[in-house]
Amino acid sequence: MELPADACSSTDTTGLSSDLSAIAAQRNTAWAGAGLARTLRTFETAQLPHSRIDGADYLLFSSSDYLGLSTHPELVSAAIEAIGHFGTGSGGSRLTTGTSIHSALESELAQFFGFDDAVLFATGYQANHSTIAAIATADVEIFSDAANHASIIDGCRNARAKVTVFPHADYQTLDRLLATSSARHKLVISDSVFSMSGEVIDGPALERTCRRRNAWLMLDDAHGVGVIGEQGRGTAAHLGISPDIVVGTASKALGVEGGYVLCSAPVGELLRNQARSFVYSTSMNAGSVAAIRAALKQLEVGDVVKRLQRNIARVRSLVGAQADPASAIIPLPVGDEAEAMDASARLAELGVYIPAIRYPTVPRGEAMLRLTITALHTDADIDRLEQALRNTGLL
Ligand SMILES: Cc1ncc(COP(=O)(O)O)c(C=O)c1O
Repeated sequence: MELPADACSSTDTTGLSSDLSAIAAQRNTAWAGAGLARTLRTFETAQLPHSRIDGADYLLFSSSDYLGLSTHPELVSAAIEAIGHFGTGSGGSRLTTGTSIHSALESELAQFFGFDDAVLFATGYQANHSTIAAIATADVEIFSDAANHASIIDGCRNARAKVTVFPHADYQTLDRLLATSSARHKLVISDSVFSMSGEVIDGPALERTCRRRNAWLMLDDAHGVGVIGEQGRGTAAHLGISPDIVVGTASKALGVEGGYVLCSAPVGELLRNQARSFVYSTSMNAGSVAAIRAALKQLEVGDVVKRLQRNIARVRSLVGAQADPASAIIPLPVGDEAEAMDASARLAELGVYIPAIRYPTVPRGEAMLRLTITALHTDADIDRLEQALRNTGLL
């Protein structure tokens, strides 16, 4: 039987509406009133330095396609060829119909990053979320940096383990918390490049703390892979540390989509059996898998990584940001949410696209412009960025 359009509307005994749409509308109004409403911008081109967005041309400084690989001819033709052979969808999870060239990519990822095993997930979000839940059983206590990415926070919420959040990058406090923990096992989780500030962890200090307290170390290198270190082998390799687990994503510098977990062979087997989004979600299509394999080849050649690192060095010196280790994310702090929106709009009037980042992505009152650099930016693009930042008082 078809339900009437207002079947879900009702009024409770207090006389207040309990209609879902009315409540959603009230919440939306409150959200917008606090200056937090989001709008979607539509790209009419690929996310290139010179992009067309909502009918206007911009010089783009906001993509995480750091190496510009998403439009690289080798990746595009590898994806088309694989889709021609395997089709556009994998038809099931990795454990049913969803494994074709996926295992070959897992071996290549493990080899490139120097781990025994790699396990692919459809997104980096899933990789963090399911890995944490699979590993952190009730006899584990998780210690999570306060500035960690939402996918780590959500993974911690979903795990059966006790979760302790330590103050951002404060490894002395972490050491004290680890020392007093009575948990049988301890798992420390941190971004290795923080996604909003672009800050890189003090890896050796964090690793020492974990080893001293017999804790496992898991890093999320979503913004380090392809960017930091020789051939973009990532933060851990660059800093000379050996975490138990490194989570990466192919959706940023590798120019594709999908997440992966670098780990030992037994941990890999555990994830293939017990990580819920590996078992219960459809695997990545073969086109994306083939494109990631082609992206790894570009990292091995290395030229594009060098170009990115050169551009990062130039922009970092321009704004006085830390030079080494250096991520492609450079925050321009503003503070007030409305002022950040205004600064972003003034840059847009000059044809430069740098979005404002506001609560809840960053804490209230810590709004900023988040500038990202890619290998495809030319010297002339960076000159224009400098001029626009000066004209808007941001430099
Ligand atoms: C630090 C960090 N971890 C994980 C993710 C999730 O990766 P993905 O976009 O592949 O789901 C992101 C991206 O948004 C990120 O910034």
